[in-house]
Amino acid sequence: MKTPKRLQSLIEEGLIDKVERQLMSGKEAAVYVVRRGDETLCAKVYKEATQRSFRQAVDYTENRKVKNTRQARAMAKGTRFGRQAREAAWQSAEVDALYRLAAAGVRVPRPHNFFDGVLLMELVTDEYGNAAARLNDLVLTPELARAHHQTLLSEVVSMLCAGVVHGDLSKFNILLGEQGPVIIDLPQAVDAAGNTTACRMLLRDVANLRDYFGCFAPELLNTSFGPEIWDLYHRGVLQREAVLTGRFEPSLEAVDLVGVMREIDDARAEEAARKTRLQAARESAERGDR
Ligand SMILES: Nc1ncnc2c1ncn2[C@@H]1O[C@H](COP(=O)(O)OP(=O)(O)OP(=O)(O)O)[C@@H](O)[C@H]1O
Ligand SMILES: [Mg+2]
Repeated sequence: MKTPKRLQSLIEEGLIDKVERQLMSGKEAAVYVVRRGDETLCAKVYKEATQRSFRQAVDYTENRKVKNTRQARAMAKGTRFGRQAREAAWQSAEVDALYRLAAAGVRVPRPHNFFDGVLLMELVTDEYGNAAARLNDLVLTPELARAHHQTLLSEVVSMLCAGVVHGDLSKFNILLGEQGPVIIDLPQAVDAAGNTTACRMLLRDVANLRDYFGCFAPELLNTSFGPEIWDLYHRGVLQREAVLTGRFEPSLEAVDLVGVMREIDDARAEEAARKTRLQAARESAERGDR
């Protein structure tokens, strides 16, 4: 294919030889399959902030470290330099998280390089060497659903032990590679210790896993792995090889966790009520038309 403009400089720098095809154009980035020598890699080209969606929210940027105070002041003011700094912080957060997680033994695409707003990384492939499918595109047997759910819970625990919460873990951001699930898409990853929203995000990430895999293995729908994991972490006793039960009895110390869970439930109930209202309005409009 014709080389996209944003990838031209990588060819000039000799980082890649050619662009094979576009894989996806998501909300935040366009993703390409590229060649370097006899290797096939993946290039994620970040979109400009203005084209991006809601994820640049305060939740995610809170406590993100920047190099100096001029940068921090500019980011807060929203000047052009500030916007550029915020943009760079957003993009490098994904690169940082990939290196940190790869080092912690979490199965993420191996990062190769970050140049000119483009992340070069391992292309996750299936058993035939094709780009791996997202969980969203798959139908699983109950056995496989249970096995992958288990694997991903261990990954979430390992991530948390490395101080990282994904923050947008869902069936769209997990690929099924040849050896099993691979977690992708980390620009919004948050620092577990320094971010007050980390708990809420972790609970949401784990609930997303439960809801997805619960479609194929319904007994998973009754589990409470999220609160169990956060409680262990919060008490400073979470370990990578933690044996989890999926049950959680809130203790007195866990009282803030109960509050957060209530908050999440309230938000879900509110969303469900909003959908019902929308549906009712739509139906009444349709009846009015007739
Ligand atoms: N390393 C990789 N190997 C194989 N496929 C990948 C890789 N990284 C991304 N993809 C593909 O590109 C898609 C978009 O990537 P990613 O989720 O990182 O970007 P995004 O802009 O946040 O997309 P979305 O808005 O859809 O979440 C993924 O759903 C996946 O299909
Ligand atoms: Mg994504």
